[in-house]
Amino acid sequence: MAGRSVVVGVGHYLPKRVVPNSEFEKTLDTTDEWIRTRSGIERRHFAADDETTSDLAAKAAEAALADAGLTADDIDAIVLATSTADLTFPSAATMVQARLGMNRGFAFDVQAVCAGFVYALSNANALVLSGQARRVLVIGAETFSRIMDWTDRSTCVLFGDGAGALVLEGQEGQGTSDDRGILATDLNSDGRYKDLLYVDGGVSTQSTGHLRMQGNQVFRHAVEKLAKTAEVALERAGLTTDDVDWIVPHQANIRIIQGTARKMGLPMDNVVVTVQDHGNTSAASIPLALSVGKQSGQIKQGDLIVTEAIGGGLAWGAVALRW
Ligand code: UT7
Repeated sequence: MAGRSVVVGVGHYLPKRVVPNSEFEKTLDTTDEWIRTRSGIERRHFAADDETTSDLAAKAAEAALADAGLTADDIDAIVLATSTADLTFPSAATMVQARLGMNRGFAFDVQAVCAGFVYALSNANALVLSGQARRVLVIGAETFSRIMDWTDRSTCVLFGDGAGALVLEGQEGQGTSDDRGILATDLNSDGRYKDLLYVDGGVSTQSTGHLRMQGNQVFRHAVEKLAKTAEVALERAGLTTDDVDWIVPHQANIRIIQGTARKMGLPMDNVVVTVQDHGNTSAASIPLALSVGKQSGQIKQGDLIVTEAIGGGLAWGAVALRW
């Protein structure tokens, strides 16, 4: 027998405003065609001016709780992955805690940019396995529209806003890869690559700043590192790519998603793709894809899933789990 963190609920929320690529043609030297062919993105959602990351996160959390048939009283902890919290402090997670009416337990944010949800899932799993929490809400939520430089065509067309959430519950398993739940994780970072993807502001430098990215450099690291981290997580679970039903990748660029699947020897039929509709929602992209994948009937109970993500840091990682 072994403890496992099993996904018992999933949900998401997207802000109402949908922005098609054509909208950027009005203000920038860009085209719908360039954005589609280079990134796979067709549209993205942007939060309203009065809508914050914790608003999106709370709605995704409510949807995940409803899917699980649970209430906030059943939850012991909230782990929220974001790089765009409402305030410098407190954490967006504690703001969600209050919004849900959750009056016990604990809540905190995890900041690992686009790899944030993989980091949050790995940490939530550790909380469950060490007995510090039985049920954990794991959320990815972002308002990257707030850190775009709207004059920089190489970045502002790529990102979107949104939130997704899972409920993890500690259950007993057999200790084999047939168990439902998180089977293995792999986390990595390398701070020497800071300049490839960062925000040129922050509390200690006294500004909010804008996202800066050397896209083609990040691209090269992504294709190389994502397949590797996914394979390491699978190997730790005693599995191989042959066992995978779904790759649920971070949704940054369709060409990265295709390149990673190719390296892993899997066809695109085994990949959940949402980048065309959401753009890159950073830490929100994986839970959004899990929720959309379940709603569309792609992901079914018992399926073997590997998630993988890379972003600013550089930080990257993967989680192998059975749904
Ligand atoms: O989620 C965090 C991790 N982030 C990522 O994974 C993003 C990784 N990178 C990418 O997705 C791609 O590198 C991009 C989509 C950002 C760019 O695609 P690329 O094929 O790597 O293009 P590039 O950066 O090499 O740029 C090619 C050309 C450049 O023009 P020149 O120098 O060749 O004349 C750019 O100025 O495309 C130009 N360009 C644009 N043209 C029209 C850049 N942005 C645009 C644009 N519209 N929006």
